[in-house]
Amino acid sequence: MIAIVGTGKVGVATAIHLAVKGLDDLVLIDIVEGLPQGEALDLTHMCTTLDVDVDIIGSNDYKDMTGSDLVLISAGFIRTADMSRLDLLHKNTEVVKTISKAIAEHAPKSNVIMITNPLDVMTYVAYKVTGFERNRVFGFSGLLDVARYKSLIAKELGVAASTVYTTIVGEHGDSMVLLPRFTLVGGMPLTSLLSPEKIAKIIERTKRMGSEIIRLKKWSASHAVGAGAASMAEAVKKDAKAIMPVSTYLDGEYGTSDVCITVPSVLGKNGVEKIIELPLNEEEKAALRRSVNVVKEAIAQVRL
Ligand code: LAC
Repeated sequence: MIAIVGTGKVGVATAIHLAVKGLDDLVLIDIVEGLPQGEALDLTHMCTTLDVDVDIIGSNDYKDMTGSDLVLISAGFIRTADMSRLDLLHKNTEVVKTISKAIAEHAPKSNVIMITNPLDVMTYVAYKVTGFERNRVFGFSGLLDVARYKSLIAKELGVAASTVYTTIVGEHGDSMVLLPRFTLVGGMPLTSLLSPEKIAKIIERTKRMGSEIIRLKKWSASHAVGAGAASMAEAVKKDAKAIMPVSTYLDGEYGTSDVCITVPSVLGKNGVEKIIELPLNEEEKAALRRSVNVVKEAIAQVRL
């Protein structure tokens, strides 16, 4: 069984993608009475319509996650256009602490995927509070930032986004580090296809895309978040050994430790089974160091 804690727009988008993939039965948990139960009924009928046979239940009780081998956390307050992700820090730390304790009690063998912002700090909080091994608690967002970047590159070049390959390191935030040197379009390096100025523009827009979307639709992005989080869940459930950008606890990798930050990682049934250390150049290393410091400063403000 897969548990999703938090059934706002992001939790529901994630549930839709998980249900359509038919990976496992779902339990939706939220503190708002009636909300998870109603969403579960609606999603059940969606599955019936699509001939997908999974059971979906809703609950206000954390103990109903018992038996889950995977828990996704999408609960918390969302960011408004004038707020940075770090502004959310204090409000969402308390939410994530409560949920992490519940996971340790009711789903002690599970893998945990964090979706709540500020993503890297919340991943760290869940890792510390659950007390799980570091491979079992990791965060979504890299696939979202990469999707935005790929989509802009594809538009600029007039090619399909599916033919762009890339990865990312760093914070899910303004200091994220997009990597043109590790971006290929149909096998060709991006740096040979676009000018540095064009690439810089794409990177800047990618970094601001979360805010751009909030400003336009007056709500945080949810569709791409749900799709990406479900892809991560699928890699874990199917033991795919897929290499994805994942926020994970570093313990010496990339020359840093005691921080959760996105780096490419191998995802399988044991969660983060391997961290890939990209051969970054000095400029990329410096950008990653700055990003690590942003997250570390935020972690320092958190009371565990
Ligand atoms: C975004 C917010 C949700 O990037 O972090 O869209």
